[in-house]
Amino acid sequence: MATLGDHELNISSLSKKSKSKLQKAKDLRALESSYIDLLGKNGEINLLLKNLGKLPQEKRKKSGKALNELKSSLESIFQSRRSHLKERIFSEELKRDSLDVTLPGRIREFGTLHPVTSTIIEISNFFVSMGFDIRSGPEAESEYYNFEALNIPEDHPAKDMHDTFYLDNGVLLRTHTSPVQIRTMEKQDPPIRIICPGRVYRKDSDLTHTPMFHQIEGLVLEENASFAVLKGMLKDFINNFFGKETELRFRPSYFPFTEPSAEVDIKWKKGWLEILGCGMVHPNVLEMSGINSKKYSGFAFGIGPERMAMLKYNIPDLRSFFENDIRFLKQFR
Ligand code: DAH
Repeated sequence: MATLGDHELNISSLSKKSKSKLQKAKDLRALESSYIDLLGKNGEINLLLKNLGKLPQEKRKKSGKALNELKSSLESIFQSRRSHLKERIFSEELKRDSLDVTLPGRIREFGTLHPVTSTIIEISNFFVSMGFDIRSGPEAESEYYNFEALNIPEDHPAKDMHDTFYLDNGVLLRTHTSPVQIRTMEKQDPPIRIICPGRVYRKDSDLTHTPMFHQIEGLVLEENASFAVLKGMLKDFINNFFGKETELRFRPSYFPFTEPSAEVDIKWKKGWLEILGCGMVHPNVLEMSGINSKKYSGFAFGIGPERMAMLKYNIPDLRSFFENDIRFLKQFR
């Protein structure tokens, strides 16, 4: 430290030395400690100022002025060095934390309804708009509701056609949604207009069959239900689903629970493809469910939504609906 005796206040060298000390401080800590050494209460400059009184008069004045000038210029060097260092820290932080906005973002995948589900919803919405209610029934069903009540007696060959999965105690996995017709007629007085979407099961598996698939059952029961109304309604439904130009035909068929019965085919790539069965509900079926068949008549239909979806979306293999291959399902966004 400079003392009064030796330096005769060699202020110019003190000034050089102390300015460069502040200017070269490499970080905030070094800067602050240099500041304290120089300008602190017991710092070099203040000690010199305190001891000015020991100098002869004429030197005292000159040195005092020079020291005070040095003090204020060191003060301003300190301030500017400090803001410089702070800025440097800030820009280093910025650099470290910066975002690369050119990186591709993380894409969030959105799920979609399964094509069979959206087909069922679309079909249901059509019939709901025509005043139908939606009903459901159990998938584990009794032989009575699945067969007998639908006019399919014990030894009837139609029963073999269903390839039924039998559970214990006369319970089976329903082979069609038609039992929901019976359950509804037992509980509800006419007029009835219902559709019943649901899962059904048959021991069958190939390009066009899976052991589980869906059906949408329809039933209309009122005083003047007629085949003409049934036909008009199904034609509207098909033109609504596939488009106005779609050609369709009613082909006579047989179901034990309807008389007369028909199947509906639509024109597809030069051929005809069956998409649903229908008919006037057989009086035996009405009577067994406690409906007066002299007063009321009904028509019913059973739609295969997988079939409808296959045709609408051009899907060759029914099994692809149930393999849960995400690449297949993604196409139905
Ligand atoms: N239950 C029939 C089946 O599984 C489909 C069916 C045909 C339902 C005619 C009906 C109908 O309601 O009237 O193959």
